Amino acid sequence: MYNWDDPINEALNKPEPVVPTATEKVDITPSDQISAESTDVLDQGYTGMENLEKGAGRIQVDDKAIINCRADLNQLIPFKYDWAWQKYLDGSANHWMPEEIPMHDDIKVWNDPKALTEDERKIVEVNLGFFSTADSLVANNLVLAVYKHITNPECRQYLLRQAFEEAIHTHAYTYCVQSLGLDEGKIFNMYREIPAVATKAEWALPFTQSLGDPTFRTGTKENNQRLLRDLIAFYVVFEGIFFYVGFTQILSMGRRNLLTGVAQQFQYILRDESMHMNFGIDVINQIKAENPELWSEQFQSEMIDLIKKGVDLETRYAYDTMPKPILGMNSKLFEEYIKFIANRRFIQIGLPEQYPGATNPFEWMSEIMDLKKEKNFFETRVTEYKTGGQLKFD
Ligand SMILES: [Fe+2]
Ligand SMILES: [Fe+2]
Repeated sequence: MYNWDDPINEALNKPEPVVPTATEKVDITPSDQISAESTDVLDQGYTGMENLEKGAGRIQVDDKAIINCRADLNQLIPFKYDWAWQKYLDGSANHWMPEEIPMHDDIKVWNDPKALTEDERKIVEVNLGFFSTADSLVANNLVLAVYKHITNPECRQYLLRQAFEEAIHTHAYTYCVQSLGLDEGKIFNMYREIPAVATKAEWALPFTQSLGDPTFRTGTKENNQRLLRDLIAFYVVFEGIFFYVGFTQILSMGRRNLLTGVAQQFQYILRDESMHMNFGIDVINQIKAENPELWSEQFQSEMIDLIKKGVDLETRYAYDTMPKPILGMNSKLFEEYIKFIANRRFIQIGLPEQYPGATNPFEWMSEIMDLKKEKNFFETRVTEYKTGGQLKFD
């Protein structure tokens, strides 16, 4: 029984937990999803929970690796991946909170029966429905699936920052839902009730489930590929393609001075998301560079199919959410836009473009993402994009 009066002594007198050290291998029972035919030697790295190895040699930069690393994971310095640390700093410098964005005008607009058409209202609701649960799916993937297998402190530092940003995003969507007085049950259940929303969530979940399996370890070619596949599914497809129809639809409302507060929330989120995606792409490319055997012809062709499937689902989302042209946009333009984005994603991870000649019908979206500082974009706008406490609104 636990001794509540003297918990420290209780803990000290407990037998040593069995935690792997550098020289031990963990006995692993492969899950059903791990092929029994794999003959690779399992060479998984540390998790950060190993016993302290007193007097062990000091860490050298070259000891570090993104996956399967066997150097102490609790020492951030010396840096090896400066880009990861820099993204952590950049993400932190862009800190913001949803309540900092004024929503009064949005409430007026939403409550004015003539201010928005039914189709425009539907776009807002469905996108809040998709995003309000999507960021939980991403956060779960980070915390429950990916984090443990990324064996590098600089990258973990960014993952922790990203996980917090996902919490802020879920907060922001919830804040929009509550500010506009939407039916919360309807919005938060859309990912189980509205097919356009459900399909994307359903597609993504198995990738988290696959790594979340407690018996899963990296260390074989097959399992390392499984991790890489999850990273591509979430960073390239989910955050890099699945967000873009919704972001464009909502941001185009802001450009027309409708729901500028909601649009502002989405604009900040988009900025965070593009950094998440760029971080993920750097991690993917670094894993490829350190483990070139993973990037086989067959794996590349599987990843092309995976991303193309994402393109199909996002195109369907565009057609389902925008059956009629509104806001000067139509589904056909979105189809083109998704292909244009996907081409960029293919190139970013070293795969050939799959949609030759696709062009960008929404150039203004690139402008938003490329902005280092805010310009006159929305009515209510931030003049300095720094820490939340320093946000200034005109
Ligand atoms: Fe997010
Ligand atoms: Fe994200």
